[in-house]
This record gives sequence, structure tokens and C-alpha cells, in this order.
Amino acid sequence: MQITVNGKRLECKSGQRIIDVLNSVDIPLSQVCYHPQLGPIQTCDTCMVEADGKLLRACATPASDGMSVMTSSPRAGAAQREAFDRILGNHLLYCTVCDNNNGNCTVHNTTALLAIEHQQIPYQPKPYAVDLSNPFYRYDPDQCILCGRCVEACQNLQVNETLSINWEDPHPRVLWDGGAKIGESSCVSCGHCVTVCPCNALMEKSMLGEAGYFTSLPKTALDGMIDVVKGIEPEIGYGAILELSEIESAMREGQVKRTKTVCTYCGVGCSYDIWTRGRHILKVEPEHGPANGVSTCIKGKFGWDYVNSADRLTKPLIREGYKFREATWDEALDLVARRFSEIKKENGPDALAFISSSKCTNEESYLMQKLARAVIGTNNMDNCSRYCQAPATTGLFRTVGFGGDSGSISDIEQADLVVIIGSNAAENHPVLATRVKRAHKLHRQKLIVSDLRKNEMAERADVFLQPRPGTDLFWLSAVTKYILDNGLAKQAFLDEWVNGVAEYRQSLAPFSLEMASERCGLPVETLIQVARTIVEAPSVSILWAMGVTQHVMGSDTSTAISNLLLVTGNYMRPGTGAYPLRGHNNVQGASDHGAMPNFFPGYQKVEDAEIRAKFEKAWNVSLPAKPGLDNHLMIDAIHDGRLKAMYVFGEEMSLVDSNANYVSAALAKLDFFVMQEIFFTETCRFADVILPASPSLEKEGTFTSTERRIQRLYQVMEPLGESRPDWEIIQHIANRLGAAWEYMHPSEIYEEIAPLTPLMAGVTYERLEGYKSLQWPVAEDGSDQPLLYSKQFQFPDGKARLFPVPWSEPSNQQDAEYDLHLNNGRLLEHFHEGNMTYRTEGIKQKTPCTFVEVSPELATERGIESGSWVQLTSAYGKVRAQAVVTERVQGKQLYMPMNSVEEPVNRVTSSYTDKVTHTPAYKETSVHLKVLGERGANPLPRTNSRFGQPTPQKGVEVERKWKRNDYTQPGNDLVQIKIG
Ligand code: SF4
Ligand code: SF4
Ligand code: SF4
Ligand code: FES
Repeated sequence: MQITVNGKRLECKSGQRIIDVLNSVDIPLSQVCYHPQLGPIQTCDTCMVEADGKLLRACATPASDGMSVMTSSPRAGAAQREAFDRILGNHLLYCTVCDNNNGNCTVHNTTALLAIEHQQIPYQPKPYAVDLSNPFYRYDPDQCILCGRCVEACQNLQVNETLSINWEDPHPRVLWDGGAKIGESSCVSCGHCVTVCPCNALMEKSMLGEAGYFTSLPKTALDGMIDVVKGIEPEIGYGAILELSEIESAMREGQVKRTKTVCTYCGVGCSYDIWTRGRHILKVEPEHGPANGVSTCIKGKFGWDYVNSADRLTKPLIREGYKFREATWDEALDLVARRFSEIKKENGPDALAFISSSKCTNEESYLMQKLARAVIGTNNMDNCSRYCQAPATTGLFRTVGFGGDSGSISDIEQADLVVIIGSNAAENHPVLATRVKRAHKLHRQKLIVSDLRKNEMAERADVFLQPRPGTDLFWLSAVTKYILDNGLAKQAFLDEWVNGVAEYRQSLAPFSLEMASERCGLPVETLIQVARTIVEAPSVSILWAMGVTQHVMGSDTSTAISNLLLVTGNYMRPGTGAYPLRGHNNVQGASDHGAMPNFFPGYQKVEDAEIRAKFEKAWNVSLPAKPGLDNHLMIDAIHDGRLKAMYVFGEEMSLVDSNANYVSAALAKLDFFVMQEIFFTETCRFADVILPASPSLEKEGTFTSTERRIQRLYQVMEPLGESRPDWEIIQHIANRLGAAWEYMHPSEIYEEIAPLTPLMAGVTYERLEGYKSLQWPVAEDGSDQPLLYSKQFQFPDGKARLFPVPWSEPSNQQDAEYDLHLNNGRLLEHFHEGNMTYRTEGIKQKTPCTFVEVSPELATERGIESGSWVQLTSAYGKVRAQAVVTERVQGKQLYMPMNSVEEPVNRVTSSYTDKVTHTPAYKETSVHLKVLGERGANPLPRTNSRFGQPTPQKGVEVERKWKRNDYTQPGNDLVQIKIG
């Protein structure tokens, strides 16, 4: 298609909005409310153009072939200025003393673009106070131009549905929960609204008084300066005032550094710029992230205070008796090298074990496994994917060949049906969940959720199943059998792409709907509804997480999910596939890069002589052939006296491993234990040497997210004190043990990884520059595979395999003594045990401690109220916590978030594991509950978002603005385009 803009012909696509055509070729046009990631909102009217003689909003009008558009005709220009003048009636231009004056303020830039010299409509303050009640951001109604971007972002992108505008009020403003204080609303502090606000009405508190040269002046002085600006404006006009503020803004560039990084919390892989002034973090600014765009959650947007925490380890520590003393790096490293050598000499290399961090970089995991294998000579190497993801990987290895998500987050977004099993995605993978919520709200995506708890996604689901704990495999297999038995399978797909159909079909004999109903406690009709919904959907994506994997049947249930997808032909197309949601930011990457007992990087088997020979040649050593101990077996080996020394970095093992008392007892038995950490964690208590490491903001490298997306992070600030990046520390240890590594930068480590690892053959730092990313497998020429199985499955004949899985009973079931089921998991606000997130004061205020969720029926039966102290006892230990009575849990099921160092839920979890991978069966825990007779306040304070009352609506609802008596269309013949 072609259109003419200001007399010049331009190519465009059918349906493309005029504004997008103009922006793609940098034709300037004012556009205050438009944001490409939000779509047209139509509140500001500043984008008016003349198209084929009609006055139209360019943001809402699709281009049509042959259309003639004028962006600055007298009519269009007058309408734009009139519309912008109304905006300035809501906003005081005090740019020089505004923390938002950083070259990207839309109001400032539009004033300059439209060459506004004087305001026709005088500025009028609104009769509302500034709201500072959220710990992280403020709302200033007097600066709010009512563009509604924030509302659109909250309603339709984050889909928290907190924000609205009271368009009918004489003085409209943005409302939280229809009029609550921000700090007492349903706002989850995701920051979407703050990020998209085009001016300073919504601002991060960390920016206030910190970004500009004059913005830290006392309020009275600031007010005086603002009055001066107002006073001189009639005489000198905005042009001169803006020039002055632009000089100030340019001066800031030397002070304010913007650095791209990748989130260090969950596996979604959000990336963003971090703005810093010195070590002060001004803000997190998401925009270009391939996984997240402008989206973040509370942790990525506001959870960074830990980096500058006074608790950071800044010097090496060496144990002396029951105490630690500070040491020099040389002293600490020499001691590590000496003890490792002695223990290896006395007991052999397999007396040592190594655990890599899923929070650290790919390069660091690679070096850790190289240290274990090439320098020490052991395959005793693992990472925390053992605690969560290994069963999902096994299920995929068995059926489709690669142990990674089959597509991208965009595939999940475009699926016709999303099925979520055992995953509290809205809290654990918040930004990924927003894409499902958005598609469900706006694009008729269907949603089935299976979970023990009525979490947010369950509340939103079209079908919500609450099966008995640990029975997902049964209902999944029964639904698959029903589909096969009733001729509803995708036969053509099975014929062409799948092996083992007949054998698999036979294996399903025990899984009748009736048996499933009995085992799982689900009505037969519901199971049929699930089966029918799945087969009727043109594309299905299944998401799962630890509610599936952390069971004795974790691998088998993951396999059953993949089997169901194969039977229904839901692989090999956009919008389909299997999505085990990876928990830590780099849990995928740690395994991909060889931090496993049986695999070199890229899942190349250590037992394979040819593969081993390749690594032996590259590393110039001979390598052990026998797979090593995984981290579950390591604990047993310490108790048995076979394992004498361990080196762990970035892993709070003593709290996050199951049966924590047993794990702690093992760590206490080690002859020599090296911890590498950023804080003195609980696990550090058992160490002999503690090495101070640098968090992600202080180093470079790459992370791999849940969608197999490899992204670069850049150094934001120097390591604090004497702390060092983990890769440097590992290198120092290796070299003291006789290696001669000379890596000067993580890019050099990747130059070694790529040629040794076919899965990453084409990964280079240049190809990952800035916001560029690659989704493995990456061929040598740099081409990657966002959709994993587009041509074939990862088996020699290219076909997938149906893999029969039997049923077995969950472990550790309730009995007369331990009569309640205890479930556990994360919370939105905290990551894991909270070593990082508790160091952000605002998060601590909102969610100060762990608690135990109790159903209303159990609370009545046992006389429990929110705030009652209870003790949970299992066969393995005890924890104390306060109760929260909530309908999120049902019957005799309890839920305890894992965010506690003092009362970690893993004191009561068991040592039962998944049969195949040894992933602990964290979700199979039975406890006895004792009411302790004390009662305090609800452990969730009133300011927690869970008490809010959201106000769902379609979006900003601009039609209500247009109905106002005082609204007239700028220009007199505007053509209204209806939204949606
Ligand atoms: S949830 Fe809160 S921070 Fe997130 S967009 Fe809504 S109002 Fe803004
Ligand atoms: S607070 Fe909301 S409505 Fe007000 S200017 Fe910012 S984005 Fe627009
Ligand atoms: S924690 Fe996860 S969802 Fe939140 S910003 Fe980080 S990567 Fe994104
Ligand atoms: S950009 Fe605001 S109405 Fe078009």
C-alpha cells in the first residue's frame, strides 16, 4: 500500500495506523497519549492530521491505499495546538527544576515540537493533594495531564485493574481502586503506570530530588523558582524557558548513566535500562526488552536496594573457631586452593563437590563446571534446577527432545487456549502472566487453571480445577485417554510426527475418567469439559511449574503434559507447545552451560567418549567419565562421609533445599566448605571461607530466560568494596590449583563455549549487543529458533515420542498424626527466601514476613483467626508462623510462602524426591497444626495489595471524556473513530 504524507509517497502495510507510518520514517507529529505498546487511547487529540480533507486522530486511524495525509496543514496544526493547550492547562511547566527533565519528557518535547510560546488556557491546579502513600512512586494530580496512559497500562497491559479516571467529575484525576490511597489500594507496584507516564505526574520516589542539578533544593526555594518561571513566561515565552531547561537536561547526561541490564529475579527475562547517579539507582526504565517491552513487576522495577545494602560482604572471611575474621584475598584464595588440593590428594577428586548459582551468569556456570571437571577432576556439579526444573526437562527430553520451552512468550500470548498447571504465574512469573491476562481480557483467549490454590490466574480462569494434591498425572492421562478413545486426537499429526502411539494408547488403560474423578476429586463432567476445550482450541499452550515438578511423580507428570500436547497436535505451530516456567533468572542457563552432574555444556553427555575427547582436547586435560552426584545425592554423601568439601556460590542451600534440618546437619559435617555470596546468608554460617561476590549490576555476562532467550547484561557500577565478580573469583581459584586461565572479560569465556557447544554455536557478544537477543539453538551463522520445533523434533528420525507413564501414589500422605497438607511457594513481592527482597524497605513494609494460609473452614474448626500464631510440625521439623485466613486455600490444605530466613518452610519438608531427577517432593508435605494461643495483628498489613478492591474496566474509557459538557473537539470537524 502507499500513502502520501505532506506530498511525499510512503509504503505502508494494510491496517497500519497513520501514526505508526509517520513514526517509522521519523515524520514529526505531536502524540502525547499514544504509546506503541499500549495502542490508541485517543485522550489527548494532539495527533490530529488532515487525511483526504478530513481531520482525524492519526493514532486511531488506519492508513488506506492512496490516502493523502497532511501533518501540518493550517487546520491540523491549529487543532494540534488547541489540543495541547488544553493539556498545558493541567500541567505546570517547571522543567528546569523537574526530575523528569531528562530529554524524554513528552510534555516538554511536545511544547518544543509545536513551538508553543504562550498558553491560552491558564494552568489550573486540581483540588487534590500529592499522594505519597506508595513506598516506590508518587502521584501529583497537579501535574497530571489526564492522558490515561497509566490507566490503559494498568487495565489492559498489566491487567491489575487498579486505575481509572473519574471523567464525570468536575476535576478528573487518576483514581486507585476508585478513590483509595495508593498505598492501601490493589496496586502491586509493578511500575507500568510510572514507566508510561509521559510527564512527571507519576514518578519513582528514587528520582525525586536526585536527577537534576536544582531539584534537591528545599521546597520553598523550588516553589520560588517555579514562581519566577511563571512570572517571566508572559514576557519571554516558553521557547527561552525550554532552552534553559534543555541546557540543564544536557548537563545531566554527564552525571546520569543509563545501562542495560537483565532482571536478576525470575526467569521471564525482563530487560531494561538502569539509571544511576554514582551508586544511587535513580530508576529502572523498561522499554526495549524483547520479553517485556515496558513491563516489569515490583521486584524488577523497585527491588534493587540490596545492591547498596550495608549488609553486603565486602571482604573475604575466614572461620576461626565459632567466629569469622576478615582476610585478604590472597590469604583466602590460598587457603581454598590448599584445602582443595589436600582433600583431593587424600580422598580423590570425588570427595569434592561444586554447586553453581542460577542467579549468576552463563559464563560463571561454565567456569564452575570447568573448575570441577578440568581442574579438580570430578563431575560432582549441579545447580538449583534440581530443586525445581529438572523433572520438566526430563519430560521434554523423553517426548520432544529438547529440555526447553517450545516457543516464546509471544506464542503463549497468541494461543487460543492457555492451560496453567501447578503454577502461580501471576506471582512467580508476573510479566509473563500479564500477557495471558491481557490476551484473556482483550482477545478472547481461553484459560484453564489447575491448582490447589485459588490464585489470581485461577480467579480469572474459564475452567478452574482443584485436584487433590499430587494427582495431576492422573487427570492429565485420563483427559488424554478420553481424547484418544473418542477419536478427538489429531490423527494426521500423530501419523506424521509421533512414534509410540499404540504402546502409549495401551498404557492409558488404567486412566478412565471415573478413576480420575475418584483419585483427583474432580467431576467427570469437568474432565470432559477440559478435554473438549482442549481439542476445540485451534492452538494450545500448556504452562507448568513447581506445583507439577516438586512431586515424586514430577518427571512423569511433566511427561504426561507433553504427551497430551502431542496427542492433540499442539506442537510445531505458533501459539502451541510446552512451557515449563523457569524460576530463577538463569536457571535455564546454568543447566545449558554444564552445571550438571551428567552433562557438559549444551546437554552433551559426560559418558560419551567422543564428546569427552572434544572437551579433553580443548581443555588439555583428561576428564572423568562417570556422572557425578547431584545436589540431593551430595547431601547423602556428606552424611555418609564420602564427600568432604564443597564450593557453592549464590545458593542459599541450607534454606531452600528440602528437609532443611538434614541439609544443615550435612553442611556442618563438611571438612571444608567455601561459600561465595553477596550477603552473610544462613548457609554461610557453615562455611570455612566466605568469598565476597558481586551481584549482577556489578558485572557483565549473559543470562538465559525461560524462553531460551540469551541476553547480555552490562556493568552498571563497580563492585562494592573488595567484592569481585564470580567469574573472576572462580578463575583465581582455578589458577591457584594449577590452571592457566586468562579470561579478561566474560566475552572471552563465551568465545570458548560457542565452538564446544553446538546448541550455542553462533552465540557471540556482538550478536547480543544492547537489546539484541538469541533463542537457542543458535546455528553458527547466528540464526536462532524462537519456535523450537518448526521443522522436526529433536530425535534422530525427527519424530516425537509418546512416553507411557504409570501412576504411583504421592509420598508423605496425611495420617492421624500429620493430618493437614502443606503446600508452599513464592510470593509476588519476595524472591525465594528473601535475601535480596527483604533489603528493599518498601517491599518489607508491604510484606514483612512469611505466614501460613488457612482455609475459613479449617480456621473455624480449629479456632484460628488471621494473626493467630500456629506451629506446624512434620516428621522432619517444626516452623512457627502467623495465620492468614483466606479462601485462596481450601479444606485441610495449608499454604506457606517460602520468604523466611527465620522460619523457613523447608524445615518441615521431606527428603522424598522425584524418582528420576531427585527433585525434592516439596509439595508433598503433611503436618500437624498446633494453635499456640497467642494472637497478633494480621501478618499481611493493610497496605498489602491483597486487600485492595480493583476496579476492572475496558481501559481508559475515553468515550466518557467525550461526553463531558466541557469537551469539544479541537478543530470543528473531527471524525471520531470508535475504539475496539
Ligand atoms: S498495579 Fe499499581 S504500579 Fe502497576 S500499573 Fe497499576 S497502579 Fe501502576
Ligand atoms: S498520571 Fe496517568 S493520566 Fe496523568 S499524566 Fe501520567 S499517565 Fe497521564
Ligand atoms: S522478577 Fe521476573 S517478571 Fe519481575 S521484572 Fe524480573 S524478570 Fe520480569
Ligand atoms: S496521540 Fe493522543 S489522541 Fe492520538
